[in-house]
Amino acid sequence: MIADIVIISIYGKVWAMIDVVFLPAMLNATLLPQSQVVVFDVLRASSTIVTALSNGAREVRLLPDVDSVLHARTVVPPPVITAGERECVKVPGFDLGNSPAEFETHRIGGASVLLSTTNGTRAVLAAHTAAELFIGSLLNAQATAEALQPQLDHLHTLLLLSGTDGQLAQEDVIGAGAVLWHILGGTYRIDLPYTDAAWMAYHCFAAVRERLGAALRLGAGGVNLIESGFEEDIDLCAKLNSRPLAVCVRKDPLRCMTS
Ligand code: MLT
Repeated sequence: MIADIVIISIYGKVWAMIDVVFLPAMLNATLLPQSQVVVFDVLRASSTIVTALSNGAREVRLLPDVDSVLHARTVVPPPVITAGERECVKVPGFDLGNSPAEFETHRIGGASVLLSTTNGTRAVLAAHTAAELFIGSLLNAQATAEALQPQLDHLHTLLLLSGTDGQLAQEDVIGAGAVLWHILGGTYRIDLPYTDAAWMAYHCFAAVRERLGAALRLGAGGVNLIESGFEEDIDLCAKLNSRPLAVCVRKDPLRCMTS
C-alpha cells in the first residue's frame, strides 16, 4: 500500500499535509522532492546518530552495507570510526556497534562515523530525494519539531518510521508522536492538516509520555534488545529531549550533521 498525500485547499488556501508513514515501503517517492522528511529508528539507529553528533562526531555517514563501510574507511579523511550492527550485534571488525552508550566523546569526538545498520540506515536511503531530511528520536524531539516549523505550510511533512524487518515498530510511532506533540505545543497550529496516522502517533505518545522506558520495553524492538543483552540502551533511547539538537542529512555523500 502506498501512503497517499494530497495537497488540499481550504477556503482557497493551499496547505501541505503532515503525515506519519509507517514503513519505508509505504513511502510515495513522487512526493519526496516536495517534502521535509524525518526518519525515526528510535531503537536504536536514530538515537545513536543523535548521540554521536551530540558528543562531537564531525559527521555520521550512512552506508548500505558492510563492504561500503570498509571501502569508505580507506577514502574518508581520518579520524574515522566504523560502526554498525547486524541482528543488534556489532559487525565483526568494526570499531563500534549500534549502542548509543558506545559513542562517547573520547572515542568519536572530531571523527567521521561510518555507520551501517539493518533498518535505520536503509530508511534514510529510501528518503534521500526529500527536499529536507532530518533524523528524529525521542532524544531530540523538540529540536526536530522546531527545525520543521519554518516549512510546515510550504512542504509536506512526512515522519518516516524505519520499522523492523518490514514490520511496524511501536517505538518509532512513539518517537514520531513526540515530534508532533512538540509541533502542536510549540505552534498551537491545530489548523494544520494532520492525517489520521499523524493523530494516532500523537495520541500514542501522549498515552505513554510519563513512562517511555516501560513503553519501549513492550514492543518487539525492545524485547529483541533485552534478549540480545542491550536493555540499558532502551533507557538511553527513552530520554526525552536529552540531546537538544536538530540533525539534518546532507547528500553526496549521505551524511548526518548538526544543522
Ligand atoms: C536498525 O537500524 O536496524 C536498528 O537500529 C537495529 C539495532 O537496534 O541495533
